[in-house]
Amino acid sequence: MSPVITPVISRQRIQEQVYDLATRINHDYDNQELVIIGVLKGVFIFLADLVRLLKMPVRIDFVHLSSYGQGSTSSGEVLVRKDVEISLKDQHVLIVEDIVDSGLTMAFLLQHLQTRRPESLKICCLIDKTERRTVSVPLDYVGFSIDQGFLVGYGLDYAEQHRHYPDICKIQL
Ligand code: PRP
Repeated sequence: MSPVITPVISRQRIQEQVYDLATRINHDYDNQELVIIGVLKGVFIFLADLVRLLKMPVRIDFVHLSSYGQGSTSSGEVLVRKDVEISLKDQHVLIVEDIVDSGLTMAFLLQHLQTRRPESLKICCLIDKTERRTVSVPLDYVGFSIDQGFLVGYGLDYAEQHRHYPDICKIQL
């Protein structure tokens, strides 16, 4: 039987929120150069929308970390599949992530990037999903806070499917 998929955040609401986030980031960094680190793969649509609204000089790199397998629960293990390639030393760095769930991926990434000696290191995540948080992480910019449910669309997947949906949807497995 195919899963039930229900839109919970419309594409229009997402665009309004991305605009608000970009406005805050533009204000806070006040035209200082910024290195954006996107966390693949789920972030690809959010990052593309966000960076096109930023007004300061921006450089963009990606990490690819994996904490989930093909299912819907965290394995608790974080693997670095692709690391940052540009120097972060003395740079203002903003991690851009689609969703923080248990917090394990972000806690790992913060530690990992701090070793590169950035001038500052902040986090922007589109969705702060609190239900399964096991590690506290300081989220500087949050698009939406959602308590529970498994989400797909706007980059988010279930078993690599549904990333291309323009709305954020709940999937009932
Ligand atoms: C998702 C998401 C985060 C991570 C959050 O990535 O993009 O990176 O899980 O989960 P956590 O807070 O429980 O650690 P995923 O590993 O599913 O890879 P993907 O981005 O390629 O879909």
